[in-house]
Amino acid sequence: MDRILEPELMVDKKQAEAYARADLAQINQGFVDRFRSCFPKITSGAMVDLGCGPADIPVRFARALPSLRITAVDGSEPMIALAQQAVEGAEVGDRVRPLCLRLPMLPLGLQSFDAVVSNSLVHHLPDPYLFWNEVVRLGRPRGIVLVMDLLRPESPERAWELVQKYSGHEPDILKRDLFNSLCAAFTLREVRGHIRSRGLGGLVCEMASDRHWIVWGHLPREVPKG
Ligand SMILES: C[S@@+](CC[C@H](N)C(=O)[O-])C[C@H]1O[C@@H](n2cnc3c(N)ncnc32)[C@H](O)[C@@H]1O
Repeated sequence: MDRILEPELMVDKKQAEAYARADLAQINQGFVDRFRSCFPKITSGAMVDLGCGPADIPVRFARALPSLRITAVDGSEPMIALAQQAVEGAEVGDRVRPLCLRLPMLPLGLQSFDAVVSNSLVHHLPDPYLFWNEVVRLGRPRGIVLVMDLLRPESPERAWELVQKYSGHEPDILKRDLFNSLCAAFTLREVRGHIRSRGLGGLVCEMASDRHWIVWGHLPREVPKG
């Protein structure tokens, strides 16, 4: 099926709160564990998380790697309010900085981050190059990239099957959200094309589960201008 876009920012307060309550522990911890197994030598430095949502992933990073400093960015005010609460609740405010900012052209230091990470943002964007350009703008040469997102299934029927399998127990608002996100997502082949044409063909792009792709590796020393 073709992509069906969903709203870019999650600005609805109820939707943001439902998302923050969803049981994403396994996926989110899996993302942090994947970072640690792909880049075992990286235990400190500056990381930016693009589209951090309620900051569950930045909080997990801060706990796992206490010398990391994390800038957690999201364009939705309700999400950043939830992120701030999570950071304060976990007492990691000295290392995790939530900021309400919207891609593209984030007002952050160019090539100033040792690691650029993101989970489940790319499918929200009408144009995926807005995202990959930002990765290149913010990551330092040879810096780390770890990006994961949903995969678009072949049909709406298959999307509903996945919703029932993984979110059957969740409230309707979350099931609808996951369905819309799956329909808005990219295929593995599309993602490979995006990174290759942005000069990032050296990154690994592979399946991470039956409904996720993952891209990881090091940025090149020089990336062609976008
Ligand atoms: C599905 S949530 C993922 C949240 C988090 N990364 C996680 O894995 O739980 C996607 C987030 O991206 C944010 N977002 C969408 N478009 C954005 C943009 N252009 N700039 C910044 N944030 C954006 C949304 O507001 C939402 O909070």
